[in-house]
Amino acid sequence: MGEVEGIRTFQAPADAYDAFMGRYSRRLAPIFADFCGLQRGQSLLDVGCGPGAFTGVAIERLGIDAVSAADPAPQFVAAIRARYPGLEIVQGPAEALPYGDDRFDVGVAQLVFHFLSDPLQGVREMGRVVRPGGTVAAAVWDFSHGMEMLRAFWESALSLWPDAPDEARTMRFGREGELLDLLGSAGLTDVVETTLTVSSEYESFDELWSSILTGVGPAGAYLVAKPPEDRATLREVMYERVGRPSEPFTLTAVARAARGTAPA
Ligand SMILES: C[S@@+](CC[C@H](N)C(=O)[O-])C[C@H]1O[C@@H](n2cnc3c(N)ncnc32)[C@H](O)[C@@H]1O
Repeated sequence: MGEVEGIRTFQAPADAYDAFMGRYSRRLAPIFADFCGLQRGQSLLDVGCGPGAFTGVAIERLGIDAVSAADPAPQFVAAIRARYPGLEIVQGPAEALPYGDDRFDVGVAQLVFHFLSDPLQGVREMGRVVRPGGTVAAAVWDFSHGMEMLRAFWESALSLWPDAPDEARTMRFGREGELLDLLGSAGLTDVVETTLTVSSEYESFDELWSSILTGVGPAGAYLVAKPPEDRATLREVMYERVGRPSEPFTLTAVARAARGTAPA
């Protein structure tokens, strides 16, 4: 997915993002922060921060003066500015970070790399703004198996429209070894990869469906582009696929995460 397309996919307001994806990324943030080895005294850049799921955890652990954030989507920049007054935030893409060399101890991109037009350049930029010996880390959903909400959506869409742009097919870095290879190709050392698992509860299928209907991300954008009768058919197929829940239910999401050390 190209940079402009990646930004267009995220034109929805922050509260719509939170209902659709933030409910998962807020749960992912603390365990991804553990994997990144965040410790008080470090400075951190959150790349592709969105409305601030990871940024909030970084602020809790490191203090607001030690955290900076960047995102190309203007409404997310505005939302995070309002959420965390005093936070240093810039509007811009990972591929061209407006910071000098060696500025941060840690650079993090949570659920971002699959949207970059030039992911290698994105990692190189993160490695440039992180000091030698510092940490660069990224996480991306496992779209093929691990992200139940997106899997149920795309399996349902594929059963109706076989050419549906399933993120398991269109998105990179969710498969084992892909993030590891990307970070290694950018010259980071001691690269390791793991999986991180979170879940989210829904009161009803309507809550899940309406979160997709907000149009956020590739799944939401695909849904809202469909005419009403196709949306209704897809709703029925997805309802069936998640087991026609009549009570609150939980969906699980698995992310791949990799971290490496910025070279001297
Ligand atoms: C799935 S959201 C993740 C947001 C946040 N990190 C979180 O965990 O909730 C993807 C984010 O990547 C941002 N994005 C898209 N293209 C980007 C690029 N080229 N550079 C940096 N961020 C980008 C979007 O604006 C969006 O905020």
